[in-house]
Amino acid sequence: MDITRVAEQGLVLLGCGKMGSAMLAGWLEHGLPPASVWVIDPYPSDWLKAQGVNINTPLPEAPAVVLVAVKPQMMGEALPAIQALGGGKSLFVSVAAGKSIATFESVLGSDTPIIRAMPNTPAAIRQGITALIGNNHASGDDLTLAENLLSAVGETVRLDNEAQMDAVTGLSGSGPAYVFHLIETLAAAGQAQGLPAELAMKLAKSTVAGAGALAKVAEDDPTQLRINVTSPNGTTQAALEVLMHDEQGFPDLLHRAVKAATDRSKELSRE
Ligand SMILES: NC(=O)c1ccc[n+]([C@@H]2O[C@H](COP(=O)([O-])OP(=O)(O)OC[C@H]3O[C@@H](n4cnc5c(N)ncnc54)[C@H](OP(=O)(O)O)[C@@H]3O)[C@@H](O)[C@H]2O)c1
Repeated sequence: MDITRVAEQGLVLLGCGKMGSAMLAGWLEHGLPPASVWVIDPYPSDWLKAQGVNINTPLPEAPAVVLVAVKPQMMGEALPAIQALGGGKSLFVSVAAGKSIATFESVLGSDTPIIRAMPNTPAAIRQGITALIGNNHASGDDLTLAENLLSAVGETVRLDNEAQMDAVTGLSGSGPAYVFHLIETLAAAGQAQGLPAELAMKLAKSTVAGAGALAKVAEDDPTQLRINVTSPNGTTQAALEVLMHDEQGFPDLLHRAVKAATDRSKELSRE
């Protein structure tokens, strides 16, 4: 992670809750000097106070980056604190769900480089995936810098256009909750087949985590991985005939679930 420019010119973090703290912990671990970080947060946590960063003090005039990590509903109240940094000298990066680039341009000026990013909850253990898209003023270097900062909490991917953000929200943004529900229901199904609750939950969690980890590193794609473990007329095939059913199986169910989340994301961004 190359953050030399950030160390020299400074970084302002607006909002240091779950996501802000996870990112800050990663940056400090990668060697960003605490003195280069200015945090704005009305109720700084004990963890934050112990990091040696500047908290709620006057901001530098032209920090390299301003990272916005407040809840979307707090944005109106929070943005005035950093509005004066707009205009082109500092790169703005927002991780707020549903807040469009246009919203930030209207507050900061359209000549401000702005990158909108969508992380997900596994960022808390540095296993998130964040999708990024910049406005017309965000240069290649700006995108690289934002990727470097967000790589502190996991992987990053670039989008081609901002409209893709709704489907990203429906897939990876909201996706961890679908997987948590899969774990819940898999454990309940094991219980229904006679296993004790605790054992069923342990088996379900490790099966989902292990299969996910294998799918990520394996040379074979998930389709081939599935075929590899499905012997003809075996136990896996019996279950997959249920799960891959045209009308009642996973394909239609997940199609409808991801569409519902994507549609809701579109609605929310219009509000
Ligand atoms: N958590 C995730 O997995 C996730 C995933 C994707 C996107 N995001 C986005 O990340 C952003 C932050 O989410 P989060 O989960 O980290 O929320 P969070 O834990 O509630 O953090 C928000 C922080 O902002 C602070 N804050 C509130 N008003 C402020 C103000 N006027 N000025 C400065 N700071 C203010 C809050 O302080 P108080 O606690 O004192 O109110 C809190 O520390 C959201 O926009 C969310 O959409 C989060």
